[in-house]
Amino acid sequence: MKNAVYPGSFDPITNGHLDIIRRSAQVFDKVIVAVVDNPNKNPMFNLEERVAIIKQVTKDISNIEIDSFSGLLINYVKEKNMDVIIKGLRAVSDFEYEFQMALMNRKLDKDIETLFMMTNSQYSYLSSSLVKEVHRLGGCIKELVPDIVIEKMTNKL
Ligand code: PNS
Repeated sequence: MKNAVYPGSFDPITNGHLDIIRRSAQVFDKVIVAVVDNPNKNPMFNLEERVAIIKQVTKDISNIEIDSFSGLLINYVKEKNMDVIIKGLRAVSDFEYEFQMALMNRKLDKDIETLFMMTNSQYSYLSSSLVKEVHRLGGCIKELVPDIVIEKMTNKL
């Protein structure tokens, strides 16, 4: 039985993240979506809000759990007895930083694998920060994030 953790800031969750979550849930027996507690990054949504939104938009997927963590990801993965870290790759530009993190995590624990899942091409340009900027400046972000996210972002403005 193989289990995976899909970590991230998810500030906010995008349709690109959702696509990775859905596809991972088809590959693994169980997937934990782990939201990092990163108050220094001054997120748009606090930890509880991000967790609640993800729960709402993934309620139809049965083999996932939404959780949060602080500190080192690798410690969280071990504590939860998980085997694999899943990361989404959008473009070559993601690769270098992701490669560094994967190797650092392997140095910290050689038994935990990082697996990369390629994004769906329709989401290859999508990021939470770009979505926030476009929305703040009045651009349309429909089809890039779930409708509930647009609603919550609009309430924040
Ligand atoms: O969605 P993001 O912001 O790209 O996610 C980055 C995340 C949360 C996966 C990364 O920042 C992380 O693993 N943070 C936890 C702290 C940690 O373990 N740092 C060392 C990484 S090698």
